[in-house]
Amino acid sequence: MKSTDGTQAAKRAAGEQAAATVADGDTVGLGTGSTAAAAIRALGDRVAEGLDVTAVVTSHQSRAVAREAGVPLASLAETDRLDVAIDGADEVAVPAPDRVANVAAHPDVSLDASPPLVKGGGAAHAREKVVAAAADRYLVVVDDTKLATRLSHPVPVELLPDAEASATRHLRDAGGDPTLRTAERKDGPVVTDNGNLVVDCAFGEIDSPEGLATTLARVPGVVEHGLFVGQADALVVGTAEDGAALRPVE
Ligand code: A5P
Repeated sequence: MKSTDGTQAAKRAAGEQAAATVADGDTVGLGTGSTAAAAIRALGDRVAEGLDVTAVVTSHQSRAVAREAGVPLASLAETDRLDVAIDGADEVAVPAPDRVANVAAHPDVSLDASPPLVKGGGAAHAREKVVAAAADRYLVVVDDTKLATRLSHPVPVELLPDAEASATRHLRDAGGDPTLRTAERKDGPVVTDNGNLVVDCAFGEIDSPEGLATTLARVPGVVEHGLFVGQADALVVGTAEDGAALRPVE
């Protein structure tokens, strides 16, 4: 099992490599979570050295990290396209995880198809999906523990509060096992930055991420779900010992 320090080093390596691909003048979408935060800090270092970028954030958390790092911000509400977005993921399905993760032995591996993702561990997936779709180039930064052959991580689903009862029934009918996400330092549920609830819906191994994404999107009261299909243009996989490698989708 990996140490927490090792995972942090892997996340940092992935974030730094992704930030290094941002070009002068780019507009940049900034994701949420610890790996995205590593990318934001690395971008801030480049801004301090003179890089000219404007960024939009996906959460209170990424706004706070970007401000602290000195990354200039614009409003997501007034942004219709971005040059690049950088974001983490909770799980990524690739055909050969060991090969994709082995940065030292296979520095130049590319991916045949855009890998499906589960996102939303930080409950920010609704804005993250908006930002991903606005970006010409969507880079997903992960440490090597996030890779799997098939998705099986519970899928976060953001719900309108008043739809909780009915949407939960629909999610069960779709084969899921939804659990309302509860807050850690507040009694009751997590409330998203958009004022909604989140259920984490387990489906076991997901045979068809695309089919399930369509099913979830059709449930009334679902604001957004955490399956990202066909969106990633490249993965940046970080390791504790060997740095990170960019895996483009060819
Ligand atoms: C935020 O809602 C998520 O989509 C994150 O991108 C995801 O949880 C990854 O987080 P870490 O980088 O902290 O593992």
